[in-house]
Order: sequence, then C-alpha cells, then structure tokens
Amino acid sequence: MKEKWLEMYPYYLKDKTDGMVVPIHLNNPIVWKCQYKDFDTKFVECADKLFEQGAKLPNPLEIGKSKSTAPISINKPDNQPHNLKDNFMKNFLNWINPRVREVMNRWTYHPDLPFYIERSWFNEHNKTGETLEHTHGATPIVVSCYIRKDHEDMGNIMFRDPMFQTRAHEDNLQSHYPWRIIPVEQNDILIFPGWLEHKTEPSQAIGRRICLTLNYNFKSMGDKK
Ligand SMILES: [Fe+2]
Repeated sequence: MKEKWLEMYPYYLKDKTDGMVVPIHLNNPIVWKCQYKDFDTKFVECADKLFEQGAKLPNPLEIGKSKSTAPISINKPDNQPHNLKDNFMKNFLNWINPRVREVMNRWTYHPDLPFYIERSWFNEHNKTGETLEHTHGATPIVVSCYIRKDHEDMGNIMFRDPMFQTRAHEDNLQSHYPWRIIPVEQNDILIFPGWLEHKTEPSQAIGRRICLTLNYNFKSMGDKK
C-alpha cells in the first residue's frame, strides 16, 4: 500500500510557530499561492477552442485521458491564451502581474527587473489523466492556475523537494520520500520557479480538471517595452 502519510502536506511541514521553539528559515519559500475568484466559463470556452486546434499534436508529458495546448504554444505562438484581447483575459493578467512582482520581490530580484509572459497553455485531465514529472527549464517563474476542478479526487500537484538529496542523510520520515503533495482547488494559483520538478496526481474522478499555465521570463533591465 502506498504510504500516503509520508507525502502529504502539511504532515512534513512542521513549521508552526506555536511550539516551544520557532522555525528559522534560511531561504524564502519556493512555492507561493493566491486565489482568483473570476475563473468563469469564458476561460473554459477559450480552453475548449484551443483543445480542438491541438487535438492532433502530441504531448508526451500527458498520459491517460488528457488534453494539452502546450504544443500550440510552440507551433502557433499567436494562439496562446495570454495573447487573447478579450477583457476576461486582460483583467486576469492585470490582476496576476502584481502578484508575480510580489513573488519576485520576495525572492529578492531587483524591483525594476521587467518581466513578460513567454508562453501559455491549457492542460485538461479527466479520469486517469495525469502530467508526468518535468521542469520548465530555465523559465524563472511559472504560474499554474486551476480554472476548473470538478472533484477533489481529480489530482493535486506534486513538487519534488529540492533539498531531498541533502536531507536524505537525516534518516527521518520527511527524508525518505522526495515528493510533496500540495492540495489545489478550483481558483487556486501556484507560483514557482521553472527548475522545480513537478507532476500531478492521476485524476481518479469523472469530470474536468483544467489548468492554465503561464511561463514568465525577464527582459533586460531598462527594457520596459
Ligand atoms: Fe509544468
């Protein structure tokens, strides 16, 4: 039987401040979260249009019952969600960009370093669908938005603890397994660096789990265009 209790958030994250000792963090957290309340049917309709266009393009990271418009973002870069001129997308981008800036600030990047969206795409999982482990390469900032999740058993996101190889020397429960399950619900948004390995749990329920992902990159300092 799978030892789920070894992986589950927040089991391993014993950093509450209500004990007799308090935690001291040597780094800012790697993963950040916020929630957007306006992921409505317009986002789903936008995803459906792009899924039709990308139906025949392969994405080896997606297995089971799944769809992805990631290949479109390479083959037809104009047909990416973030390039839509509709208000629902503009409003969302205006809302998320200050939060991306806040994460950059918390990571201690220069406060004037300009950024832009380099690529964006939708993934969908139905029952059995999952995304295999991967990184986004040198992408400095990834934003994953859960625009629809019909059922809690449709799969959470899993991150591989980058301290695993080092802390494996500790011989305790958190050091025995590298993957951390972070629960995600509809409207949740996670912000993390592209080098961080991640994957999804396989969906175990009938219904739709649709994720919009944005890859942000930096411009040169002084280039505000
Ligand atoms: Fe990803």
